Amino acid sequence: MKAVVCTQLGDPKLLEVKEYNKPNISENEVLIKVEAAGVNFPDALLVQGKYQIVMEPPFVPGNEVCGYIEEIGEKVKLPIGTKVIGIPTIGGFAEYVSVNKNLVIPVNNEFDSLAGASLPINYGTSYYALKRRANAKNGETLLVLGASGGIGTASIQLAKIMGLKIISAVGSDEKADYVKSLGSNEIIRYDKVDLKEAVKDLTEGKGVDIVIDPVGGNATEQALRATAFNGRLLVIGFANGEIPKISLNLTLVKGVSIVGVWWGRWTNTSPHETAEDFQELVSYVNEGKLDIVPKNIFNLEQTYLALESFLSRKNIGKSVIKF
Ligand SMILES: NC(=O)c1ccc[n+]([C@@H]2O[C@H](COP(=O)([O-])OP(=O)(O)OC[C@H]3O[C@@H](n4cnc5c(N)ncnc54)[C@H](OP(=O)(O)O)[C@@H]3O)[C@@H](O)[C@H]2O)c1
Repeated sequence: MKAVVCTQLGDPKLLEVKEYNKPNISENEVLIKVEAAGVNFPDALLVQGKYQIVMEPPFVPGNEVCGYIEEIGEKVKLPIGTKVIGIPTIGGFAEYVSVNKNLVIPVNNEFDSLAGASLPINYGTSYYALKRRANAKNGETLLVLGASGGIGTASIQLAKIMGLKIISAVGSDEKADYVKSLGSNEIIRYDKVDLKEAVKDLTEGKGVDIVIDPVGGNATEQALRATAFNGRLLVIGFANGEIPKISLNLTLVKGVSIVGVWWGRWTNTSPHETAEDFQELVSYVNEGKLDIVPKNIFNLEQTYLALESFLSRKNIGKSVIKF
């Protein structure tokens, strides 16, 4: 089968598209013929050896796919031919991938494959963050940092469904236009204005109830200072590359909670809740409440371009490889 192979850790340009062994499945796995695979910021870190898990090459990156079941293990009950969203631990950027039966979500044949491959990581993480880590309530105000990115755009769309008022922080006019098209209520150019003051102006001095922070660096403390009493700052990632160090007195005087969000680990420890969240996300799509349209479609040979756009701060919206 054809696959994107990391043969040495380093620049995404080093990735090779080549023939690779089709995976064997164990008794609890299915083999998926991949129609589309989602590309994410962590993939760019993984191929460089900079992710929290360092993998020994050769390996095929990729953790979210949509396609059809081609083979099943002895303990799997799903019929061959079922269309599914799959969350492999690795190996998604290939024509075939093996996935544990607990991390496979059946969808109907009309479910768009590009949308399916876009759903697990960004929408799964953002939903887990807002619903389970922040206990977001209808009417609360949300500040999204890096709002035009993968996590940011998913958070905006889900926050709208949950009835939150959304303030998006972005670093360019093009990014501002994109988050506006997704329905963000307010936009702050945090590369140009003081984030804390801008948030206070937009919230009549009260601050925001919840912050989605996939960025880190200086923006984190500014956002923390712009939270309302009883606010929650959700630590999702450090796209900026700098891990902020926060004085804890800030949390005391503002009554704010700093809440860590590691979705991948939670999916392993809480498979039933994970499945529940996925059913809800899939039903939002089926009911027309959630329209997942990836902005950037690549072929296998262009995978490195998708990864480079994360590292150069150029990514906007969701990137997907179409087979
Ligand atoms: N905790 C979890 O379970 C989990 C799950 C998925 C992803 N993540 C993490 O979340 C982070 C964001 O992922 P994403 O998919 O949203 O990435 P993305 O699409 O690239 O968006 C990240 C945003 O961060 C901002 N940014 C600020 N400084 C940057 C810099 N030096 N380089 C790149 N971006 C910079 C950019 O927006 P502006 O230009 O507007 O500032 C960019 O749009 C990553 O660190 C990823 O590993 C965590």
